[in-house]
Order: sequence, then C-alpha cells, then structure tokens
Amino acid sequence: MIATNTILDFFLETRHTTETICKPLEIEDYVVQPIVDVSPPKWHLGHSTWFFEEFILKSFKDNYECFNDSYGFVFNSYYESFGKRVVRTNRGNLSRPTVNDIYKYRHYITKQMELLLQDNDSEELIELVEIGIHHEKQHQELLITDIKYILGNNPLLPKYNDTFTEHTAENHNREWLSVNEGLYDIGHNSKDFCYDNELGRHQVFINAFQISNTLVTNGEFMEFMEADGYKNALLWHAEAWDWLSTENISAPQYWHFDNNIWQHYTLQGLKEIDPNAPLTHISYYEAFAFAQFKGLRLPTEFEWEVSQHLFNWGQRWEWTESAYLPYPNYKKADGALGEYNGKFMVSQKVLRGGSVATSSKHTRPTYRNFFHPNLRWQYTGLRLAK
Ligand code: AVJ
Ligand code: FE
Repeated sequence: MIATNTILDFFLETRHTTETICKPLEIEDYVVQPIVDVSPPKWHLGHSTWFFEEFILKSFKDNYECFNDSYGFVFNSYYESFGKRVVRTNRGNLSRPTVNDIYKYRHYITKQMELLLQDNDSEELIELVEIGIHHEKQHQELLITDIKYILGNNPLLPKYNDTFTEHTAENHNREWLSVNEGLYDIGHNSKDFCYDNELGRHQVFINAFQISNTLVTNGEFMEFMEADGYKNALLWHAEAWDWLSTENISAPQYWHFDNNIWQHYTLQGLKEIDPNAPLTHISYYEAFAFAQFKGLRLPTEFEWEVSQHLFNWGQRWEWTESAYLPYPNYKKADGALGEYNGKFMVSQKVLRGGSVATSSKHTRPTYRNFFHPNLRWQYTGLRLAK
C-alpha cells in the first residue's frame, strides 16, 4: 500500500494532469460522441470525479453534501449497483451539465477529497483512493484517444497540439528472443497496486517459444497491404472478413491515401507515415491477419508476461492471442467495485504493455488491458511470436 503522505500528492497530481490533457480543447470539442466507444471529454471529466464521490465521499465523509443529486445519473458509466443512468449512446447528446459546471464539480470533489485525506488515514480509505486514482489514469488515456478520434474524424483534421509524440525511435533490427519451456508464475506478486484481474497468481506451463524484440512497423504493414492482404480471405477470421466489408476497411485507422502517398492523422495533425515507426490503430483482426501473412503468430498473454523483461515495451498496447478470462483463483471485489473488471470477461482479447497515451506510473508487467477484437482507436500494435 502507498504511504499516507504520498497518496494526497498522487491524488492531486492525477487530478491536475487530467485537466492539463484538456487544455488544448475548444469548448465544442468537449461535447461530441462520434461513435459509441468514444465518450465526450466532458463526460470523462465528470465520470472520473463522480467515481470519488460515489465510492468514497458518500461513505467516508460525515454529513457529506452531494454536489448535485442528478450527477450520478449522468456520470455513472456501467454500475448496475448504482441504478439507472444515461445510456451510453446518449453521452454526446447532453448540453448540460455544461463544461463549466463540470469543472466546478471537479474542483469541489478534489477539495472534499483533500479535506478527507487530511483527517483520515485508514487503510480502507487509502486503498479506495488508490483505485480512484488509477481509475482516473485509465480515463486519462481514454481522454487522449477519444480526443484523437474526435479531431481525427473531423473533416478539418485539426491538430491537438504541436508536442504530443506518438512514437519514439526504436531499434528496427528484429531479433528473435528464445524462452525455454517450463512452468511459470503468472500474475501480480507485490504490495504495489494492481487490479483484481491480475491477482490469483498461478502457474502456467509454456512451451518453448520465440518472441520478437521489436514491434511490427508501418513499413512491414505496408508490405502486407501491397500484397493485397486485406483482400485475401484466407488470412482472416470469418467475423473479421465480415467486419472488413461492413466497415469498408482497407487500412489501419487514421490512414489516408492522398496524392499517391500514405499519410496518417496524428495528434500533431496529418503527417507522412514513417515506415520505421511502430504500427498502430489496428484491430486484433488485423494483427492476426498480418501474423498469418508472415507465417507467424501473436504471443499469448502468458508468453508476453514471462518474456517482457527481455524487450522494451510501452509505446503500443500489444494484442495477444489470449481471451480475457479470469485467472483460476480470481475473486472479484465485493459490492459495486466487483463490477469494475470481472463482468467484462467474455468475448474480449487481452492487450499487454502500455502506450504513448498511458498515464505515468499506471501500467506494469502483469497489467491486463482488454478490448473487443474489432476496436482500434487505442494505440494498439503487435509483436510477433513463433
Ligand atoms: C481497461 C480500458 C478496457 O475502458 O472500460 C475505465 C478502463 N474501467 N473505467 C474501459 C476503465 C473503468 C477499461 N479498459
Ligand atoms: Fe470508468
């Protein structure tokens, strides 16, 4: 558990960073919801705030005065335990509460939390605050990717700013790292924070395998496209093949073919694609098809976990071949927090690593991210195995 004197700093820094992410936005950018998966920035600001109010202030602060009794309905994401809420598809239809109201809400809750932490240092409270902080950090990443979607799907292709870097230089000479067969321990194993889905440390037998030290690059993916990979049904799962035609997909998200060159929308605006940069904004379906094309495969989440110390990671969330399932000894938390991770353990794939949009001090070697296989607006990529 984190020390009592640092939790307040960690909390305040996290609250501040969320607002810094929104600094470049115009008011209108805060409001829209172009697809169901992308929430309006103002909703993220309110929801991450509501989390502290609902899970902490209401039960820990004596005579706590709710900021606005209607906000639970607006900012509850998916907790059946807290009752009815705005349906997800309607998040972008709300002109009220205004952005201004939501910033007032944020500042009220930040202050109330600060006061609470000054006179309560119980372990129970600090553990909940840690979850609230890490929850907000997840929403910081979602804010960045949702802002990218909002701006990158606007015909004017406005940039977010001039500084957000979507990749850093990498060594591109692929080496195959070999790992021996054996029984390996999987899952979180320290006093540091983790989510419930990483617990239930257990053994897994892994056959000998090799994993690439580098991520797949844009250049490699262009070879797949030039070889008509998107048109070769033999490389794709059945539902992936349907997805390609329903969604009319023939390139990664944000790629534009203009004036005979491939460009892509980045948070710094439209740029020519760097063939040496790690590929991003691909679905699991595309990751799988690419691996098929190469005669290779994706690593399982277990292979990734036991080999992650051998390579650099953190630029892209890496699709794995593993279904998002509970570990054998998985125990979800009691009450509403039990809804946080466990109920999503069906029909999703695990991603490992972290991305350029991941909040600092958030991810770790045992961290399990998860998304449906068709989604690609996160900074997703892939690492090959064999
Ligand atoms: C782990 C990123 C899939 O987006 O729902 C946010 C993170 N959990 N609030 C999601 C999350 C609760 C979660 N992902
Ligand atoms: Fe959330």
